[in-house]
Amino acid sequence: MTSSAHTSRISGFYKRPLTERAALVAQWADLSKQEQAALLGVNGLNAAQADHMIENVVGVYGLPLGVATNFFINGVDVLVPMVIEEPSVVAACSNAARLFRDGGGFSCSSDEPVMIGQIQVLDLQDVYVAAGAIMAQKDRLLAEADRVGGSIVKHGGGARGLEVRPFVDTPLGGMLILHLLYDTRDAMGANAVNTAVEHLAPLVEEITGGRVNLRILSNLTDQRKARAEGMIPAASLATETVTGEEAVRAIVEAGVFAEIDPYRATTHNKGIMNGIDAVVLATGNDWRAVEAGAHAYAARDGQYRSLTRWWQDEAGNLRGSIELPLAVGIVGGATRVHPTAQIALRIMAITSARQLSEIMAAVGLAQNLAAIRALATTGIQHGHMRMHARQLAVAAGAQGAQVAVIAEQMIAEKNIRLERAKQIVMELK
Ligand code: MEV
Repeated sequence: MTSSAHTSRISGFYKRPLTERAALVAQWADLSKQEQAALLGVNGLNAAQADHMIENVVGVYGLPLGVATNFFINGVDVLVPMVIEEPSVVAACSNAARLFRDGGGFSCSSDEPVMIGQIQVLDLQDVYVAAGAIMAQKDRLLAEADRVGGSIVKHGGGARGLEVRPFVDTPLGGMLILHLLYDTRDAMGANAVNTAVEHLAPLVEEITGGRVNLRILSNLTDQRKARAEGMIPAASLATETVTGEEAVRAIVEAGVFAEIDPYRATTHNKGIMNGIDAVVLATGNDWRAVEAGAHAYAARDGQYRSLTRWWQDEAGNLRGSIELPLAVGIVGGATRVHPTAQIALRIMAITSARQLSEIMAAVGLAQNLAAIRALATTGIQHGHMRMHARQLAVAAGAQGAQVAVIAEQMIAEKNIRLERAKQIVMELK
């Protein structure tokens, strides 16, 4: 598919009515009538399906699903479905993707989808001797892990390696932590990894003479990272009030702030996760797992830091990159059960879990650019106020086209308050 025949660069997408946007996406992803209805919430996840997902179900909970435009990733146009309650995120992301597009789009890569399963071994006489005994039986342990691998092994995944991590001096004396590296292919893989480590535990006890306590995957999936990088021409960053060069400098300064200061890094990374989590949610993936991994990775050198880097290249343009663990799947779990999650994958034409993680990395980088560009130039309240005004108009009882009219009037009056929205609603009546 060439970008000209099938472009995600859709100007004024946000200005079109909802039905037109939905129709455009339906055409883009060739959605059936039933899938279109699912997207509009008419035929989406129902209580009966939800009842099979978690316990004590009494209903379902809806959230807005938007689509970020303008993404050009590894030479392919992508529309990105995002599920999020926060205004401005989808618009900001689309806007930033357009800026990266000016620089040729995103270059993304990812590791093989290798997860880590942990086994905690205690009551050992010598943790190093136990570690040696484990490594001497490595092939046997890996083969044993694959015996319970089921469909993941059939699809080419399975045990890839073993690591031993001796802790000599813990409050409980010596402790050996065993890592099973396990390729879960297109699954997030929590079940497969947990099954494998539970299965290995008796054999580990036999080999080490110790006692196994916990057997569980690690959410610090640092073997399974995704990366995105891109350039934005300085000229694309110029506004009425700042030159491109000034904008590049201010954005790089904002990036360094987040590299050196954990207080800023936390907010900086929160903004990145605004984008990533929204795609994680849209695709039915485990956003707590992704969050946990991202923040632990951000603190990997002992200080919590930014997940992105921003710098000025030799030509004076802005460059940014991101790297983080992204354990997401496209088969199994909620992704398979949730009708809208399936549609989200279709919209992005996803064919592998790695491809999905790469798109998420690009979204994280775009979201970060949008935030720090706004913060380093006009401040973010400017953009937020328009959505805020619309929300107040709705809260004041405005309906349909009235919402935008009232919001614009409050913005023009520089008086964005619920009381004012109520007054205008009354006047319009
Ligand atoms: C708000 O949800 C996210 C930001 O605070 C992120 C940032 O400060 O970089 C705007």
